[in-house]
Amino acid sequence: MTAARVKSRPDLRRERRQRAHGCWNHLIIAPLWPKHGVNLGTMLRTCDAVGACMAVPRKPWIPDALAHGNTLRKPQCVHWINGRVDRWLARQRAGGSAIVGVELTDESIRLADLPTARRRTVIVLGHESTGIPPEGLALLDVAVEIPMVGTGHSLNVAVAGSLVLYKLAGLC
Ligand SMILES: C[S@@+](CC[C@H](N)C(=O)[O-])C[C@H]1O[C@@H](n2cnc3c(N)ncnc32)[C@H](O)[C@@H]1O
Repeated sequence: MTAARVKSRPDLRRERRQRAHGCWNHLIIAPLWPKHGVNLGTMLRTCDAVGACMAVPRKPWIPDALAHGNTLRKPQCVHWINGRVDRWLARQRAGGSAIVGVELTDESIRLADLPTARRRTVIVLGHESTGIPPEGLALLDVAVEIPMVGTGHSLNVAVAGSLVLYKLAGLC
């Protein structure tokens, strides 16, 4: 790698696809029970990188958290959920979307076995302390677990969501 050169911003801009419209609507990451705004901002940046949208409940603190966390300073695709998030999730499922939960469960498949998304897919993330609640687990088509070998119980939710987004997008 002695001749390697870090790509410049104009290089990177030329490599990227241009978004045709405001919303990709193929992969939707859904932190439905969020606790920390900083995680939402991190996930929003991954959404831009892989061409995904985010769905979040319309809680008073969330618009500010997203505006603060949107370090790209460009409009991002956010679906606002009014009312109960489990009902929203049930509607997505009834409408034909695949529902993938990112969670450590006794029925989870490993991240390596998760195929690239071939249809509209909602990726459900759990609460930072308590995970995906039972009413959310009941609506999943599949749960995916990111294997860990360290001593911690779990990953940061934004890291877990980003890894799954990359796998579903077929970019890694
Ligand atoms: C910090 S974890 C939840 C806390 C967890 N129940 C515990 O006891 O440590 C927050 C969320 O991140 C995601 N998550 C973290 N690590 C994960 C892993 N290794 N595999 C799949 N999901 C993970 C899940 O969506 C989870 O609900």
